[in-house]
Parts: sequence; structure tokens; C-alpha cells
Amino acid sequence: MSPRKFFVGGNWKLNGDKKSLGELISTLNAGKISADTEVVCGAPTIYLDFARQKLDAKFGVAAQNCYKVAKGAFTGEISPAMIKDVGATWVILGHSERRHVFGESDELIGQKVAHALSEGVGVIACIGEKLDEREAGITEKVVSGQTKHIADNVKDWSKVVLAYEPVWAIGTGKTATPQQAQDVHAKLREWLKVNVSDQVAQSVRIIYGGSVTGGTCKELASQHDIDGFLVGGASLKPEFIEIINAKQ
Ligand code: 13P
Repeated sequence: MSPRKFFVGGNWKLNGDKKSLGELISTLNAGKISADTEVVCGAPTIYLDFARQKLDAKFGVAAQNCYKVAKGAFTGEISPAMIKDVGATWVILGHSERRHVFGESDELIGQKVAHALSEGVGVIACIGEKLDEREAGITEKVVSGQTKHIADNVKDWSKVVLAYEPVWAIGTGKTATPQQAQDVHAKLREWLKVNVSDQVAQSVRIIYGGSVTGGTCKELASQHDIDGFLVGGASLKPEFIEIINAKQ
């Protein structure tokens, strides 16, 4: 058995309304959920409070982004203090859509990671290469560079989950093969061993994201260095329960 508790996050992205998310939450609450899996649902900001109030306590709730300071004149932003205030305990940072649609830099993501952790909010920190980078053979360089900007801002790794999400696999239906994902996860763990510590390398959950489905989750979950998933599309469907239980 891995010493690392299996971790499955659902990233609802910019989807749903009170009706559809309420139905999804009822399905999750009624589902048979493995006690060996930590499950966190990433709700749109405006539904964080709603999700926290409706989801069973066994599910964690995550924001999908936050800013790097607690408060101030930053129209449209939310802070880790606000995330905590509604009872959510996690935040997804550095997601590829934040990086590539909204232009967030490694530096900004690092500052957000530092601030969220200093406020006691757990961080699901996302990294991943684009298709041209994979084809150019620089996947390892890209993901270790992104990881360095995150690692430079982490003191306590117990509140961090690293999510490897190859950009070419996100929302494309093109899941990385178990071997492709395992290879990158193993390289990331090696990077953590060399640059942080052996203890952190052995204990940090490295989860995979990118077109994970009920059909692909079991074989991915059987890989030694895959400690869970970050799920987009399928997290909005009852199929999410199958993915949560992939390790069984
Ligand atoms: P999909 O599962 O829809 O490919 O999205 C993955 C993702 O971006 C999760 O954060």
C-alpha cells in the first residue's frame, strides 16, 4: 500500500448552476465513496458557499483560484481568507487555463501559493506541458521549471498536492497513457527528492489530470507514482464516483 492517501479533485470549472450542481451534490452525497480516498470538489467562486453547505462533510471544497493578498482594491478577486470563511479548505492554483487563457505567470502563481499556504488553505498546484513542448522533447524541463516556482514558495508540503496536467490532454478526450503519466510523475518525484527532500518526495501526492474518465481511471491509478486525479468534465457526472473509487 502506498503511504500516500489517494486524492481525487473535481474541477467544475465554469460550469453548472444551483439546480445542476445541487443534483450533482445529491448524487455524490448518496454515493458509495471509498474512505481511503480524499475527495475535494472545486466549485465556481459564486457557488463555494452553496457547495460547502450542501456537500457532506466527508467531501472537501476547493476554490479554483485566489489572489495573493488577503484584501484590498482588487476588483473581481477572492482571497484565501474568504475561502476559509465559507468553510472551504483548498484552492487550485496554476491551472493551465489560468496560465494560458488568463496569462498567469510562474511568478504570480508562486506568490499565490505562498499566500494561500500562509493562510492555512491547502493548495492543489498545477503544472503541465503544452503539445509543442512535449513534441520538442522538453516536457521534463517545462514541468520541473514550473515545479521550482511552486517549491520555492512552499515551507510545509503537507498542505500541497501537485497536479500534473498535460495541456494537450485537458478537455480533449486524449488521456495520457498510464506509462506517459507515470514517467512524468516519477521524474517529478525525483526532482522533489533532489531539490526538496526525500521525505517530501515520498509523501507528496502527485495527481494526474487530463481527460480522466471512468474508463481510464483504473489503469492510471495502478501506476506507482499516480496518487489520484484532478478531473474536469467527468467530475460533473455520476461517473465521478467511479473515479473516486478507482484504486479499489
Ligand atoms: P478534463 O478532465 O475535462 O480534461 O479537465 C482536466 C482538468 O483541467 C482538471 O483540472
